[in-house]
Amino acid sequence: MGTKRHFRVWRGDDSGGDLQDYQVEVNEGEVVLDIIHRLQATDAPDLACRWNCKAGKCGSCSMEINGMPKLGCMTRMSTFEENETVTVTPLRTFPVIRDLVTDVSFNYEKARETPAFAPPAGVAPGDYRMQQVDVERSQEFRKCIECFLCQNTCHVIRDHDENKHAFAGPRYFIRAAELDMHPLDARTDRREYAQAEQGLGFCNITKCCTEVCPEHIKITDNGIIPMKERVVDRRYDPLVWLGNKIFRRGQVPQTFVTSAKHGDAVHSHGAQGGVHSHAGDSHDPAAEAQAQAGVNWHREVPKPTAPAVDDNGKLPLTELTFDRAAAPSPFGDDVTFPLPPEHLNFAHPEQDKH
Ligand code: SF4
Ligand code: SF4
Ligand code: FES
Repeated sequence: MGTKRHFRVWRGDDSGGDLQDYQVEVNEGEVVLDIIHRLQATDAPDLACRWNCKAGKCGSCSMEINGMPKLGCMTRMSTFEENETVTVTPLRTFPVIRDLVTDVSFNYEKARETPAFAPPAGVAPGDYRMQQVDVERSQEFRKCIECFLCQNTCHVIRDHDENKHAFAGPRYFIRAAELDMHPLDARTDRREYAQAEQGLGFCNITKCCTEVCPEHIKITDNGIIPMKERVVDRRYDPLVWLGNKIFRRGQVPQTFVTSAKHGDAVHSHGAQGGVHSHAGDSHDPAAEAQAQAGVNWHREVPKPTAPAVDDNGKLPLTELTFDRAAAPSPFGDDVTFPLPPEHLNFAHPEQDKH
């Protein structure tokens, strides 16, 4: 038998709500999500909370614990003082659906707006080659579990809904940085796109996003700051400016293949060390045209559908009462897989030949 601890949990929906007090049993080794589950089993059977893995890997159980954005399943009760009240509230940046569940579709919309990896023309799938140093550089960003704690923390949108339209947020800055560092990505305007379309300029490098990332991704130091530096290099360095004037580079958008070909395989430039840059590489107009044709940047993308709620704007209590087996798809209910060709964001230029 554990000890009783004081919990305050925000209960309510989009029309309003309040903190409610609970005395809950806590046992050795438990995490905050265990306590939420105990509450559901005892005092609050209708308490809404998202979770899936309970292992810090699905990114579902994001919540604010004593005001700090955290994963409920990764926050041990032993990190609090014996008599400390634990206050659990929903993510503040996103609209509440009910209790601890928020509508995070803003993030899915920003994900859709981020141009996907553009495969190199003239290289068959399976013949891609990358230096290990390039793999390791972007591997850090691939650890993202899409918990959106960084998005929730960022002050640019936390209390400023009006900025959401123009700001993609730290999670999508590291996606842009990852693609910018990718030696086989045929699109060369990642940093300019981040600046012009994703609102990179709004970020003033407070590093709050890095502080809350449960995967310990150095979002600011390794993603945002290098991107900002390269934007500045491209836009304000007088020598680069002059070079662009002379060689007509630097226009947005640009798309060309940058990889050097050795035999049948393509090798990255990682051996050169430092930050990968596309500027100054050889330019094959035929390959560019092929890559451009293969990328459908202007595809029609269906909007995500709203969550299934009843007449009172509340989610049904259990899946049993749903008119379908599970929660709505974040891709939207009108999306079926495989996607029709016109909805694909790229088609490999070689795919029809195999
Ligand atoms: S470093 Fe930039 S993206 Fe991260 S929280 Fe601060 S303003 Fe937002
Ligand atoms: S970057 Fe970190 S905090 Fe942001 S969504 Fe990914 S895992 Fe979560
Ligand atoms: S339940 Fe999956 S990260 Fe917490």
